[in-house]
Amino acid sequence: MKNIILLGPPGAGKGTQADLICELYKIPKLSTGDMLREAVASGSKLGNQVSSILDSGGLVSDDIIGSLIEDRLKMPDCKNGSLFDGVPRTLGQAEILDNMGVTFSHVIEIVVGDEVIVNRMSGRRVHPGSGRNYHIDYNPPKVNGMDDISGEELIQREDDKPATVLKRLGVYHEQTKPLTKFYKDISSKTNLNYFSVDGSKTVNEVFNSIKEDI
Ligand code: AP5
Repeated sequence: MKNIILLGPPGAGKGTQADLICELYKIPKLSTGDMLREAVASGSKLGNQVSSILDSGGLVSDDIIGSLIEDRLKMPDCKNGSLFDGVPRTLGQAEILDNMGVTFSHVIEIVVGDEVIVNRMSGRRVHPGSGRNYHIDYNPPKVNGMDDISGEELIQREDDKPATVLKRLGVYHEQTKPLTKFYKDISSKTNLNYFSVDGSKTVNEVFNSIKEDI
């Protein structure tokens, strides 16, 4: 069973690579970012609770993330493995997953310098219904401003404003980066595969590196 974690800063290309990996291995993408944005769009109680946190670039509590993942993993499409996109994002979340009995086959760290990130975020466009990502220069849709599959309009995310991106980068270094050491240590003692790829290369080059190592 392939349970794969994609680790990396905001804008590293986790969502982009997650879609390609999921297509290749026919496993579902578990993106807590997508789940939370769907909750906000639906106006649910959870959505109202987390909306301002997402807009400010902070992190939603570990308990909320734990229950979102617990519910999602009960769905039958997760039985052959799942791609964890942007989760866990704190040591607390890693511990919650461990306590749930979730084990991982691979951790893929996508490494991109902070200076590349702000530029990527300003050009990102998203299909809100599916979470599909584009970039106006590096990964453009076939028709300007429209999703390739549904033909629906693409939007710019609220949290992609430069000041919020800088905040998200700070949160990444403080709270998520420690997970790289955490999982490297586990991989040195178990059969977990941990590897890093250079996320500053093109989308296809990054995907080819991932395929070589998975
Ligand atoms: P989330 O949606 O997970 O955001 P993120 O981790 O900050 O990641 P992004 O989606 O911004 O970037 P990405 O790495 O997926 O890059 P992408 O492929 O889009 O989370 C949003 C918020 O939800 C968080 O801030 C937090 O508030 C909350 N949240 C979510 N999960 C949480 C958790 N577990 N715990 C607590 N809170 C949580 O690519 C970015 C752009 O670059 C795109 O335009 C893309 O087309 C382009 N691109 C991609 N690859 C390349 C490439 N190789 N070359 C050039 N351009 C590229």
